[in-house]
Amino acid sequence: MNSHPITILIFGASGDLTQRKLIPALYNLYQKDRLPESVIIGTSRSEFTHDQFRKHLLQGIKEYSPDTLKQSNWDEFAQNIYYRRGNLTSAEDYKKLADTLKELEEKPSNRLYYLAISPDFYHEAIQNLGKAGLARQDLGKSAPWRHVVVEKPYGKDLQSAQELNETIHQVFSEDQVYRIDHYLGKETAQNILFFRFANTIFEPVWDRRYVDNIQITVAESVDVGHRAGYYDKAGILRDMFQNHLFQLLSLVAMEAPASFDADAIRNERVKLLQSIRTLRRENSVAGQYLGYCDADGVAKNSRTPTYAAIKLYIDNWRWKGVPFYLRSGKSLQRKATEITIEFQKPPHLMFGLSNPDELTPNILSICIQPDEGIHLKFQAKEPDSEQNMRAVDMEFHYQRFFDGVKLPGAYERLLSEAIAGDPSLFTRSDGIETAWQIIDPLIQSWEDHSTEDLSVYDPGSWGPEEAENLLLRDGQRWRMNCGLHDDCVEPITKGK
Ligand code: BG6
Repeated sequence: MNSHPITILIFGASGDLTQRKLIPALYNLYQKDRLPESVIIGTSRSEFTHDQFRKHLLQGIKEYSPDTLKQSNWDEFAQNIYYRRGNLTSAEDYKKLADTLKELEEKPSNRLYYLAISPDFYHEAIQNLGKAGLARQDLGKSAPWRHVVVEKPYGKDLQSAQELNETIHQVFSEDQVYRIDHYLGKETAQNILFFRFANTIFEPVWDRRYVDNIQITVAESVDVGHRAGYYDKAGILRDMFQNHLFQLLSLVAMEAPASFDADAIRNERVKLLQSIRTLRRENSVAGQYLGYCDADGVAKNSRTPTYAAIKLYIDNWRWKGVPFYLRSGKSLQRKATEITIEFQKPPHLMFGLSNPDELTPNILSICIQPDEGIHLKFQAKEPDSEQNMRAVDMEFHYQRFFDGVKLPGAYERLLSEAIAGDPSLFTRSDGIETAWQIIDPLIQSWEDHSTEDLSVYDPGSWGPEEAENLLLRDGQRWRMNCGLHDDCVEPITKGK
């Protein structure tokens, strides 16, 4: 970290991401006094004057983050926002941008180039940044740096991700590159490392000797909406698994890094991904919600999956033999992201239970969103009974514990780290490539068998029945504990 001011140059500045996420995040940082002296420049093909651009962004705050708006400090914040029209494919326009930067920067400044653009333009934008000399930085820790933030999707398969990495590395060195996976910016995802490694009591049981299975659910109630054009080519495995689910998996299953340093953490995340056993089609379920093909932008006979459930194994000392079940889908019953660690049942039950199989095991649930928190389920004796018991919940919720605190959005967190020049929460080139290496063969085999394999599910359900069967086969079932509270009381396990 150095103490230079920062220039944030956003490509694709007239787009949705800038208005909806980036500017509200930067404005929040400004309000919290966490934004260093800065100049924000937006560029895209649209025509805006500086003032029109500021108004357009203010509109975004009013729409997407109205409770944060204070007109007086917005005006102050907006003074440092500028707009320059530019075409991503015109090398000449990058030279003009370089001149603009020189005009606006009063002192030597760090620069963050944010590519909030269609992935079709990544190669050209990177090359043009290079040609205009915008990637060049002086050596030395205190010299102003030039970093580039690249949004997802980062490639559509291993080969395209490798090609993108190659292009990037011709212009930027790896430590200048910040690849976004916004799940890593979620407060609760970051808390996984604190929960595991800032406590002593969980880590000793966090392995094959005590854990029966681990589940990760990322359920969304929304359908593909206006993104059908992109989604129909991508499908659920590219859209959610290659990135978000694998990142959650690596956080929950990785080994303890030796320090909180970016490389130490990223090394462990990648090592974990490298230990995933080859995925098998028979351990996966592909689904599509009814009505998907009627959406605008979706091919009428599309076989693109909007739901996936997979079972996988991690071949290392800690996790040998423990099944990990991952599922995600659109148009499901409710929005909920949850990781459950289901522990083994006690080896011997001395209580005379009428049906010991009904005993709910200890389950630790990490509620990533919404109603962020952690639950631990354990057995308690039912009062005034001889041997009846019930699984009860020990709960921690951010809202209640931290007195109604508003958790920062993922983009606020990620931008704050990028501005500070800390890449821990961003994905390294080897991490991205490993994730594609794992998911590519499954995508391929799904595509090869799409006629026979795709199950249909009702919007508003929990996905296709086949996904339930994937676990039933192993004597398991999907668990959801977060966000259920009292309306989901566990049944009593009766004594004889
Ligand atoms: C994006 C996917 O990366 O993540 C979307 O492209 C998905 O399809 C979104 O809806 C989910 O993010 P979140 O933060 O709402 O869980």
